[in-house]
Amino acid sequence: MERVGSIEEVRQAVLAARREGKRIALVPTMGALHAGHLSLVDAACKRADYVVVSIFVNPTQFGPGEDFAAYPRDLERDFDLLRSEGADLVFTPSVDAMYAADAQVTVAPGPLGDVFEGEIRPGHFSGVCTVVAKLFGIVQPDLAFFGEKDFQQLAIVKRMVCDLDLPVRIVACPIVRVPDGLALSSRNVYLSAGERHAATVLYRALRTAETLALGGETDAALLAEAMRACIAEEPLATLDYAAVIDPATLRTLDVLAGPARALVAVRLGETRLIDNMPLSTGA
Ligand code: PAF
Repeated sequence: MERVGSIEEVRQAVLAARREGKRIALVPTMGALHAGHLSLVDAACKRADYVVVSIFVNPTQFGPGEDFAAYPRDLERDFDLLRSEGADLVFTPSVDAMYAADAQVTVAPGPLGDVFEGEIRPGHFSGVCTVVAKLFGIVQPDLAFFGEKDFQQLAIVKRMVCDLDLPVRIVACPIVRVPDGLALSSRNVYLSAGERHAATVLYRALRTAETLALGGETDAALLAEAMRACIAEEPLATLDYAAVIDPATLRTLDVLAGPARALVAVRLGETRLIDNMPLSTGA
């Protein structure tokens, strides 16, 4: 496994792999890797011949007062994990390597970026789209792997690829959970023991909606309300939102009649957690 920090080194390594006829995959990450990230690398290794993993804590997707400085970083541990998982190249650029001091152009996510996470974290998805578009330009992968855990991010990246005609196929990978249902997230390390215990409320809320939907409930507002009621029972949790949406448009649904996704976002102390689950009707 090769470790590089400059855009030129990535281009050279990817060019050499391409000359050998290899199919190139990119797994963009911000490091602090856990089994969720490793499942993306594993999926990439199965679908491609040369797997690039980027580790870059992207400052432009953090708002003022968010956890950019405190975001967990452990590069040596990440390298060991990626080596064992079979990645070929790890790209760890500095902020200066990624963003020229006089850079001016950014990618606007459009209306999908204004709701849910975008409403609570203004500018977040512009930062995500810009860095992902740059990574696509640098690596020029055939395939790029994203987790369903950040469901809105995934929807926006798919939309960006479609609307900007970017020549990359987006592969969505399922959420990885620990046995009590908590979705893996690099931010779980911030939770105190009590908050970690309370954090299972996100999964419980989603499962409540899932069970009601499977039982034949098609009133999407009622499903969202059931999730809110579940979260309200957890004293350490403060609800940001609970919604039932169309997975492509992210619009809040009235009725469950086709593809649907339940979303929740909750604060536990200083930590915000998000989670989601597909919903299908009992029919
Ligand atoms: O999901 C993440 O870790 C980040 O948003 C991403 C896609 C690596 C862009 O910085």
